Amino acid sequence: MTLKAPSMQDAPAFYRNLEDALDSRRKDHALYSIHRDTWKDNASVDFCSNDLISLGNSGMLRKEYMEELARYPDHPLGAVGSRMLDGNYGYLEQVEQEIAEFHGSEHALILGSGFEANLAIYSAIPRPGDAIVYDELVHASIHDGMKKSLATTRVPFRHNDMDSFRLQLQAIKDSQPMIRQGQRCVLVSVESVYSMDGDVCPLKELLATGREVFPLGNIEFFIDESHATGVVGPQGAGLVNKLGLEKDFAIRLHPCGKALASVGAVLLCNATVRTAMFNFARSIIYTTAPPFTGVAAIRSAYNLMRTGRTKEVQDRVQHLVKLFCTTITSDPIWGKANEMGILRVPVSEGWKDKEFFTHLVPIWTKQQYNYYLAFHLSLNGFCAFPITYPVVPKGKARVRITIHAHNTEEQVKQIVAAICAWATEMVEIEAGKGGENALPKAAQQVYAWMAQEAIAELQVGEEKLKVEDDKLKVVDFEGKRNDSGTALNDLPELYMAQSTAA
Ligand SMILES: Cc1ncc(COP(=O)(O)O)c(C=O)c1O
Repeated sequence: MTLKAPSMQDAPAFYRNLEDALDSRRKDHALYSIHRDTWKDNASVDFCSNDLISLGNSGMLRKEYMEELARYPDHPLGAVGSRMLDGNYGYLEQVEQEIAEFHGSEHALILGSGFEANLAIYSAIPRPGDAIVYDELVHASIHDGMKKSLATTRVPFRHNDMDSFRLQLQAIKDSQPMIRQGQRCVLVSVESVYSMDGDVCPLKELLATGREVFPLGNIEFFIDESHATGVVGPQGAGLVNKLGLEKDFAIRLHPCGKALASVGAVLLCNATVRTAMFNFARSIIYTTAPPFTGVAAIRSAYNLMRTGRTKEVQDRVQHLVKLFCTTITSDPIWGKANEMGILRVPVSEGWKDKEFFTHLVPIWTKQQYNYYLAFHLSLNGFCAFPITYPVVPKGKARVRITIHAHNTEEQVKQIVAAICAWATEMVEIEAGKGGENALPKAAQQVYAWMAQEAIAELQVGEEKLKVEDDKLKVVDFEGKRNDSGTALNDLPELYMAQSTAA
């Protein structure tokens, strides 16, 4: 690996010091870099993006957006001021009101992004003496917001586990008299759909449990609907709307950068929370209000949803996920591969009884095979990411497939065929075909490529891999990346190469 600072003795101290700091990341193979996904150049099929109902991909949103812009030919593009000074404007308020009505909320507040919104919510809303109880898998932005919050206590409960939730609530009640007496509050933070497993929070149970432990009513619920917005519920309004629980959540967040293919986030709340946000959220007070251009894009996406024009694409996602489940579970290798622990698709378990699906379809295999599957899909032209530690806990790596309205039935059948061909190969390898050290074909190609490029270690996602004794080993579980940048010839840029010479 090449360090930069040592050769910069004559460079300005400012750049030398920055490169020096970056060098310590390089030494740790922890330097982040950006890359372009191959599906964007049509070099692979998109089974990974967040353009779930294809508003971006299909041109649907662009058309609506251009029409919206044309309706306001003279509207200034930027807000040119903080919302609390001269950045507020009629169009923004009108769009917020429309969105609030769509979701059955008293108010809606448009913010810069989902990340910014969570920072603002959790830093502004909890009061001293409050306790936040959160699902252990909530998003990084909620964690960052909680760190800045005034809440006295922050405790996680096990993911979607209502027994663990109850235990944590009870422990708070037992140990905190002000909360027990109803003078301070418990704030519960969950997501409606979790991004790594596509599993859904049991909202009704959550509400019932919370209210049972705190009958005085000093418990409130906050929900992040990032992965449900546009996909779940009536017209894509989200899980809370689907279940008719609009009155049960003090705060709902709908980020607009995923299925809505635009930018920003919508916070749903009542007048008290809205006023508190304007007074206590520094990232609203000390920033420029959302510009007309962004708000118009959000409005366009909501126009499409409200007028039923997204119904077809929403139904199509449901259809394609079902097609995935029927196709994979009827493949001849399915039973055997499943029984041997080579292939598991939790979404397909009991799929016939499911009321609805999310677009997230994680594929599980034995942990040591996870990259073999990822390599196989990559080399067969499918862009689907391996998800590894620290994004998920150690031992919970999987390959995550995201199904979109723009995927064709043929593509869904093809990715299933690719997964099953790989599973067949693994079943045969486990049965001893090819000898003791047999490797699946895709892994052989990757290793051959590594040998040809004199690469000893390969950075894949968050982990560093090494070939030793003809086996792929994870050598770095530190959750680090590097960008030393040898471009891969055959694999998508997802696999960033580490140029350590063999
Ligand atoms: C649950 C959740 N909340 C918030 C965010 C951040 O949203 P945005 O991309 O709009 O900043 C994400 C993005 O990955 C998310 O998954």
